[in-house]
Amino acid sequence: IFTRNFSSSSPLNVIKTVTVIGGGLMGSGIAQVTAQAGQNVTIVDLQPELLEKAQKSIQNNLTRVAKKTFKDDAAKIENFVKDAASRIKTSTKVEDAVNADLIIEAIVEKLDVKQQLFNKLDQLAPEHTILATNTSSISINAIGAGIKRKDRYGGLHFFNPVPVMRLLEVIRGDHISDATYQTLMEWGKSVGKTCITCKDTPGFVVNRLLAPYSAEAMRLYERGDASAQDIDVALKLGLGIPMGPLELADFTGLDTKVAILNVMLEKTGHPVFKPIPLLNKLVNEGKLGRKSGEGFYKYD
Ligand code: CAA
Ligand code: NAD
Repeated sequence: IFTRNFSSSSPLNVIKTVTVIGGGLMGSGIAQVTAQAGQNVTIVDLQPELLEKAQKSIQNNLTRVAKKTFKDDAAKIENFVKDAASRIKTSTKVEDAVNADLIIEAIVEKLDVKQQLFNKLDQLAPEHTILATNTSSISINAIGAGIKRKDRYGGLHFFNPVPVMRLLEVIRGDHISDATYQTLMEWGKSVGKTCITCKDTPGFVVNRLLAPYSAEAMRLYERGDASAQDIDVALKLGLGIPMGPLELADFTGLDTKVAILNVMLEKTGHPVFKPIPLLNKLVNEGKLGRKSGEGFYKYD
């Protein structure tokens, strides 16, 4: 558990405004917890429809949180949702959203696309702005290779669903300053997360352990050793975890799973990360899991 180990006179950068780039599964969750914590947040995505989708999902999830917190008090529920939603803005243009204390990137898991975005953010954002990536597996040093403000840059790896999962992996790149690292740890705490510190290693802590397990579950199913349902029931009931590996893969997004495996294979050379034909087939057919309506399972 993270404990404060710096004096109150540390040159901490207090985060009041946040921009989240990418309003998909992760970006919308990050924006939600930020707004819930009383900070102003702007979500940037490519098209207005994607932003509308993000806002709808945030509205639904804020209502869930409010109902849980305020039970049957309709007025309080409405106030909570309105209040948090009022702190969320949207934009389709990165240029219009760089005025923030912290910018968190949560776009597609592709190195070159992320690099391009960070180079642009580095040029456009105010001097004091801290840049962070929510990458799940790519080296944060590689993503930030082209930026100048390497001392004001780090990894903030959230878990899906962001409003529920309590962990935040804070990743230290080679050049992050202590002040930036401490600011990120403090900010993570301010949005309700327990922060752990990770080095810039493939998959950091959670995905380094989750990805091999998940890959082996897919291979077990691919070989026909057991049905998808039986694999998931086995792991849920046998280990006492909330989701089995195949339903969790669908929940994460199968395109993201492929991207993670590719990075892990490239960086570690471990055969457990080799491509899984069945997984690639599903992705090529557009079956990306829950977000597209079908993956290992079908969804309404
Ligand atoms: N926003 C706010 N609250 C939410 C929510 C959301 N998006 N989703 C669920 N909840 C809340 C619900 O309101 C509910 O609250 P109560 O218990 O107080 O009623 C609680 O969470 C449980 O939700 P449900 O009853 O709807 O459903 P569930 O019991 O099946 O739980 C789950 C859903 C929380 C997703 C659970 O199945 C779970 O924890 N699954 C595992 C998720 C996981 O392992 N995530 C990590 C993936 S790895 C990763 O993210 C890293 C990476 O890089 C790939
Ligand atoms: P997603 O597909 O749900 O959302 C990505 C969003 O980014 C889309 O809405 C897309 O339109 C948008 N986007 C793509 N390029 C963009 C650009 N140049 N500018 C603005 N928006 C752009 O993906 P996701 O699951 O939210 O994953 C996002 C990132 O978070 C990835 O790096 C992923 O590895 C990481 N991550 C995912 C999970 C997970 O469980 N899904 C967990 C932790 C971290």
